[in-house]
Amino acid sequence: MPRANSRTPLAAVVLAAGKGTRMKSGLAKVLHPLGGKPLAFYPVRAALEAGAAPVVVVVGHQAAEVEAALRAAFPEAPLRFALQAEQKGTAHAVLSAKAALRGVKGPVAILSGDTPMLRAETLRAVVKAQARAKAPLAIGTMELPEPRGYGRVLRDEAGRPVRIAEEKDASAAERQVREVNAGLYCADAAFLWRSLARVDARNAQGEFYLTDLVSMAARKAPAVAVAVDPLEASGVNDREELARAGRILQQRRSAALLVSGVSIEVPERFLCDEGVVVGPDTVVEPDVRLRGATRIGPGCSIGQGAVISDAVLAAGVTVRPYTVIEGPATVGERAILGPFSRIRPGSELGEGTHVGNFVETKKTRLGKGSKANHLAYLGDAVIGAGVNVGAGTITCNYDGEKKHPTTIGDGAFIGSDSILVAPIEIGAGAYVAAGSTVTQAVPAGALALGRAQQVNKEGWVERKRAAAAEKAARAAAKPDQPGQPS
Ligand code: UD1
Ligand code: CA
Repeated sequence: MPRANSRTPLAAVVLAAGKGTRMKSGLAKVLHPLGGKPLAFYPVRAALEAGAAPVVVVVGHQAAEVEAALRAAFPEAPLRFALQAEQKGTAHAVLSAKAALRGVKGPVAILSGDTPMLRAETLRAVVKAQARAKAPLAIGTMELPEPRGYGRVLRDEAGRPVRIAEEKDASAAERQVREVNAGLYCADAAFLWRSLARVDARNAQGEFYLTDLVSMAARKAPAVAVAVDPLEASGVNDREELARAGRILQQRRSAALLVSGVSIEVPERFLCDEGVVVGPDTVVEPDVRLRGATRIGPGCSIGQGAVISDAVLAAGVTVRPYTVIEGPATVGERAILGPFSRIRPGSELGEGTHVGNFVETKKTRLGKGSKANHLAYLGDAVIGAGVNVGAGTITCNYDGEKKHPTTIGDGAFIGSDSILVAPIEIGAGAYVAAGSTVTQAVPAGALALGRAQQVNKEGWVERKRAAAAEKAARAAAKPDQPGQPS
């Protein structure tokens, strides 16, 4: 059997013009971040996954920012934007999308930009119900024990939905109804535009209600109602609901990772952004946070408290506790980082490298098998393979005005507490003596000694002690002089 929408392609409208007053924020509600994406990302993705093309997003508050955020999130998708300059109600919002939907003949799905938990299959179920019943309109409805604030779905004796009564317009009896409008619709395009033209604002809120379409349909061919999961359809109106949606979406992502073979020791203490990839047999300890475009290979170990942003880790990498990676950064196979390393943008840590405690890297390439195990700053450096960077090594990459590069050849040995004043080049296999300040290029295979010559004063301690003892004896032999300050 062909899919319900196989002949007439589905279009969608996502309503995202509202301010979201209850968020008490300077930021438009649909831009609030959730799992590293703006809130509106999720319903737009659901519409795209349900096969809608185009998806028209109705924007109003911070329209340019909302459009930019969604275009960035879906660079290839058939997204269109329609401006609703003034928010006069949900019917008015859909009408604002009319020009963007010119030529669309088939079903039009309508959803809210503030319902991040909605799944594509739920939207598809509403679309299918409209097609199957050949109804002008299908609406998602749900039973709520506490229906306050929602539009109540009123049915006739035959059980057909005939009207939606908004909270503020409903009679006391109507308010007893617990079946509410989930704010999820699929309408036949012709019916939609014909009916929207007739919606007025004669109601308690003086708004153009999209929900009036239900009573308009009822006269000829009634709307069909589709039961949807209340958890999915409930929207985000305040910060509490935003946090709750965040928890639920995180649970879904964690569950998907667990199913795919990732061990998450304490799922309640793990956070990852939408789109983060983790390979099978990777073990994640508590309090790990994976952000942005992070991709972690198989068989890795991510230690407690690690925060990893925009980094690509190959297979078998060990990240010990409390390591922070601020990418873009790449880490090669079987590398070992941390505890307490800080890997900054532009770090490329090769296969089998070791970066230890209190080591900071920035814009630095560390070749295969190279090690910087303790207390170092490596910035703007290209470091070859098999290099040993001693504790306390610092690349002095900044002269107060410009950044300068440091190059270290394969197999070089940088003694502890070396100061490498960039621009500087250290040849392959060269040695830098511990405590050196290196300001000139070191040829391959050379030893650089860049420190003051050591002087040993033989018997110095003995002589110092003897002199001190003599002084003390003289002071004791002198009689006290009363009245004199001591
Ligand atoms: C709406 C429904 C209500 C339903 C509820 C489900 C109407 C009249 N009522 O009420 O029956 O139970 O959703 O959540 O439709 N928007 C615009 N432009 C506007 C007005 C709204 O873009 O002019 C957007 C909002 O940003 C939001 C969505 O439409 O994303 C829903 O609007 P909202 O004001 O939250 O409607 P509700 O009062 O919740
Ligand atoms: Ca709402």
